[in-house]
Amino acid sequence: MDKLLIKGGYRLSGEIRISGSKNGALPILLASMLIPEEVTLSGIPDLKDIQTTLRLLELFGCEASRSKDRVTVKAGESLVPEAPYDLVRTMRASVLCLGPLLSRLGEAKVAMPGGCAIGNRPVDMHLRGLEKMGANIDLESGYIHARCNRLQGAHITLDFPTVGGTENLLMAAVLAQGETTLENAAREPEIQDLANFLNQCGAKISGHGTGSIKITGVDNLGASDYTIMPDRIEAGTYIAAAALTKGDLVLKRSPVPYMENILEKLHSLGVDIEITGNDQIRVKQSSPLYCIDVTTQPYPGFPTDMQAQVMTLMCVASGSGMIQETIFENRFMHAHELMRLGANITLSGETAFVRGVDKLVGAPVMASDLRASASLVLAGLIAEGETEIRRIYHLDRGYERMEEKLSQVGANISRTQEE
Ligand code: EPZ
Repeated sequence: MDKLLIKGGYRLSGEIRISGSKNGALPILLASMLIPEEVTLSGIPDLKDIQTTLRLLELFGCEASRSKDRVTVKAGESLVPEAPYDLVRTMRASVLCLGPLLSRLGEAKVAMPGGCAIGNRPVDMHLRGLEKMGANIDLESGYIHARCNRLQGAHITLDFPTVGGTENLLMAAVLAQGETTLENAAREPEIQDLANFLNQCGAKISGHGTGSIKITGVDNLGASDYTIMPDRIEAGTYIAAAALTKGDLVLKRSPVPYMENILEKLHSLGVDIEITGNDQIRVKQSSPLYCIDVTTQPYPGFPTDMQAQVMTLMCVASGSGMIQETIFENRFMHAHELMRLGANITLSGETAFVRGVDKLVGAPVMASDLRASASLVLAGLIAEGETEIRRIYHLDRGYERMEEKLSQVGANISRTQEE
C-alpha cells in the first residue's frame, strides 16, 4: 500500500487546474447505459472510483474506453444485469446502476453496498422509490434483486434529500411510462449535471436543482456528447491548502457558481478569496484564520464533503468553534488523527469542538476515508517536521494526482511504498 511523506512549512504558490467532478462523473457514466449508442464524456477525472465504474460498465456488457480525460461508452443492446459484490463493496456508488438497468432490461441484480467507514449508508429510499415505480425488489444473500415490466411514473416524496437516491430515481424515471415527480429531492450541482446530460440525450426533466423534480418518461434516448462539471470539493480543498500555507494559489476551472456556501464559510474563517473570473479563484492569504461554527447540510448548505478540510483549518485558527456533522453518523475519524498531530478537538456525538492551537507537529497518521485523507494532507502541509500518511488508497479514490498538483506549487510531498 502507498503512503505519502510531507514536510511541513512550505508556502504554496502558482496555479492548479481543477479536475472534473468525481460525484458528477460517476452517475453520468452509469446513466450512459440508458443510451444504446456510443456516448463521449469529457472532463472525466483519472480516479480509482472512475476506473471501478468503467470496469463495472464492462461487466454489464458495455464497451468503455478512455483517452486522457475523454471516456466513450457504448451500452449496445446486450446488457447483463449483474453487479458482483467484489466490485460493489469497493464503491458504494455502484448501486446507481439500479435505475439504468431496470429501465433498459427490466432487471438488476446488485450486491447490497454494505456500510462504509463514514456510516451505515443504507439504500432504503432508493428501493422504496423504485417499488413505487413498479419494481419488485427481493433482498437475498446480500443481493438486491429488482425486476419490473416497464417502470411506471410515480409521485415520490423522499424522507431525506438523498443524493444517490435522487440520481437513481431520476435515471429510472426518464424511460418510465408517464410522469414522475420527486419531492424533497436533493439539489446538488452534480444532480443538475446529470439531468442536463440526460435532457441533451432527449429526456424530459425539469426542476432539477430544486427540491421538486418532474420527469416525463420517453421511449428512448439518443447519444449526445457531454463535458462533466469541475469538482467543487477538490476546489474547496485546494483553497484550504492555500490558506493554511499562507500561499498564493490560482485555481483554474473552478465551478464558482456552485460554491457559494463553501466560499462564504471559508471567507468567514478568514480565508482571503478573490473571484477572478467565472471559473477562476485566487487565494492570496495574509489575514489570520478564526474558528467559526459550521453545520453540514444538504445543498445549498455547507457540504459534508468539506467538513474534514474545514476542521484542519480550524485546528490552527484562533479561538474555538463547533462543527456539527448532520449527514453521516461517523464522519469524524480524521479528528483522532489530527489530535496525533497536536490538534485540540473534543468529540461528542455529531459535534466536534475545536480549539485552535499555535502549531501542529508531524507524525505518522492513518487515512480512514476519502475526505479524512484530504484533511490529513492539509495538516501535513503545515505541521512541523515530517508527516507520514498511510492507506492513501482512500485519497486516490477522489483526488486526481494530488501530490503532483501540490508539488507543482511548492509542497514538499512524495509518495512511497509502505514497508
Ligand atoms: C453522495 O453520497 C456522495 N457520493 C457523497 O460523497 C456525499 O457525501 C453525499 O452524497 C452527501 O452529499 C457520491 O455522489 C458518489 P446520500 P450518497 O444518499 O448518495 C442516508 C465523497 O466524499 N440515506 O445523500 O451515498 C445516508 O446513510 C462522498 O465524495 C439513507 O438513510 O449520500 C446518509 O446518512 C462521501 N437511506 C444520508 O442519507 C437512503 O436510501 C445522505 O446520504 C439513502 C441515504
